Amino acid sequence: MQSGMSPLHPKRQLVIAVDGPAGAGKSTVARRVADRLGLEYLDTGAMYRALALKALRRGVDLRDEEQLAELLATSDIAVASRAGGAVRVFLDGEDVSDAIRAPEVNAAVSQVAGFAKVRAGMVTRQRALARAGGVVVDGRDIGTEVLPDADVKFFLTASLKARARRRWEELRAQGFSIELDAVEEEIAHRDRLDAGRAVGPLRRAPDAILIDTTDVAVDAVVEELLRFCRLRVCE
Ligand code: CDP
Repeated sequence: MQSGMSPLHPKRQLVIAVDGPAGAGKSTVARRVADRLGLEYLDTGAMYRALALKALRRGVDLRDEEQLAELLATSDIAVASRAGGAVRVFLDGEDVSDAIRAPEVNAAVSQVAGFAKVRAGMVTRQRALARAGGVVVDGRDIGTEVLPDADVKFFLTASLKARARRRWEELRAQGFSIELDAVEEEIAHRDRLDAGRAVGPLRRAPDAILIDTTDVAVDAVVEELLRFCRLRVCE
């Protein structure tokens, strides 16, 4: 991954963590904040999604921690972010950017992400990718486990109804036909698994800035994050 210099502070490679539940707007907001600050963007959820996709394709038992950890150890997962463009995800060289957003992957990913050995492998990869700094990283455990020393941490949230509606609109725009209620159930289920697991649970770091995006337009959320980043850098 290329490291970008922050125009906010020429000598410092900012690291920004963005965590929160499904559909809170993390990826859109994190991507735009990264673009505005000239930083890289790392979507850690896409890495878990790629592993879940491979496990589904191979028919791996999703309850088998050893097999899943082995699958990860032998997988090449690359997440490429280009300024202004969509994130592209490559699994063993194949572009799986669309496939990882399918409902079957949504249904499987939190189970795969719940295992300690899978998380250990992912966290090692994510820290290596963020090592050079100059990056906005989004996920569930970034401010708590992956990058506890991040310069600025955000925890984005929104009501379940608002999150479900956003995700439903996204899925429909991608051509998936699915009921709003089913999407709401799926993200509520994923939130429960993500928040309830023993390792790297979805949790707000004590020093993360809480942003509720329920009734706030994306542009305004982006400006709010940028304001906090500027304050933090000027401290
Ligand atoms: O886009 P959305 O918020 O729905 O999810 P995502 O960021 O693509 O993450 C998909 C799933 O991966 C989450 O529901 C978690 O189970 C898992 N995940 C995780 O455990 N830790 C992370 N740092 C990122 C994602």
